[in-house]
Amino acid sequence: MIPENKWTRITTAESVPLREGRAVRLGGVEIAIFNLGDRVLAIENRCPHQGGPLCDGIVSGTTVVCPLHGWRFDLESGAAVRSSLPACVTVFPARVEDGIISVNIAGGSRIEMEDAA
Ligand code: FES
Repeated sequence: MIPENKWTRITTAESVPLREGRAVRLGGVEIAIFNLGDRVLAIENRCPHQGGPLCDGIVSGTTVVCPLHGWRFDLESGAAVRSSLPACVTVFPARVEDGIISVNIAGGSRIEMEDAA
């Protein structure tokens, strides 16, 4: 359930280039926002391996590759889809309305680690 009154307007959609990520700090959490063209997706910006900035990773399909050691995360579920250990990051609801990207920090969710393996 996404708390409807917890959306925070972040930036204009044009300020996140297509298939790139940008970091924003929101509610004490650093979030990486990705522009996939037809939608935006937001995940925790800290790689669970050694803290790599996922916003700087290469986007491929709906995944991003951590720039430090190459773990790959699904941007929709937060699950690591290529890693040396089961891992995941928190995903946050994100949307574009009237050209403005908003993120719902209170609606963040994380898959169970048994599902991530
Ligand atoms: S810090 Fe991300 S793969 Fe190592």
